[in-house]
Amino acid sequence: MYFDFTTFPVLETERLTLRELNLNDTKAIFGLRTNKEVVEFIDRKTLNNLSETRAFIDRISQLTTNNKGVFWVIESKNNNQVIGTIGLRNFEDEEDYAEIGYELDPSYQQKGFMSEAFEVVLKYGFKQMELKTIEAFTHKNNTASISLLEKQKFVFEPEIKDEGFENNLSYRIKA
Ligand SMILES: CC(C)(COP(=O)(O)OP(=O)(O)OC[C@H]1O[C@@H](n2cnc3c(N)ncnc32)[C@H](O)[C@@H]1OP(=O)(O)O)[C@@H](O)C(=O)NCCC(=O)NCCS
Repeated sequence: MYFDFTTFPVLETERLTLRELNLNDTKAIFGLRTNKEVVEFIDRKTLNNLSETRAFIDRISQLTTNNKGVFWVIESKNNNQVIGTIGLRNFEDEEDYAEIGYELDPSYQQKGFMSEAFEVVLKYGFKQMELKTIEAFTHKNNTASISLLEKQKFVFEPEIKDEGFENNLSYRIKA
């Protein structure tokens, strides 16, 4: 496994730029993480205001600085709007493992945008970071997420449990 996020790995696709998060994204991130449709199946602490969102952005920057995670803002090339996020975290050196997390603004869903982001992030994870396994935990009723993962060739792992989140399923993809 190899990380070097000192120069942040900006990734490009046909319609998207995946770039580093910064404090100018505060409102967009607050909007995403408080959108009821986005968070319906995601069990995590809610951001209550912009000040908490700025603290969250600072924590993400620290993760990247300390090589403990990499978090991209997904920007549409069409209008330069932040439309979602995607990240790799919970690295396990011995197993060359990372977990993937992702979310997209509802008005941009079902247009293939997250599939496009996945392709470039998985390629980065396997080729540049030399990962061997990438795992997604997703709520068992999150059909959109499950369809996305299956389309990306992730495989359901019935034996694996997400501790503390009994409704989550594990999907894994290997290099
Ligand atoms: C999950 C999510 C990221 C999917 O993003 P997306 O850009 O809409 O996905 P895509 O358009 O690339 O679609 C991928 C596949 O999933 C299918 N799909 C997407 N949304 C779907 C839905 N609501 N219902 C059924 N299938 C769906 C697509 O049809 C496509 O399959 P196909 O190529 O066979 O048609 C998006 O729904 C989202 O952000 N949800 C809220 C946040 C979330 O749940 N994140 C995951 C936490 S584990």
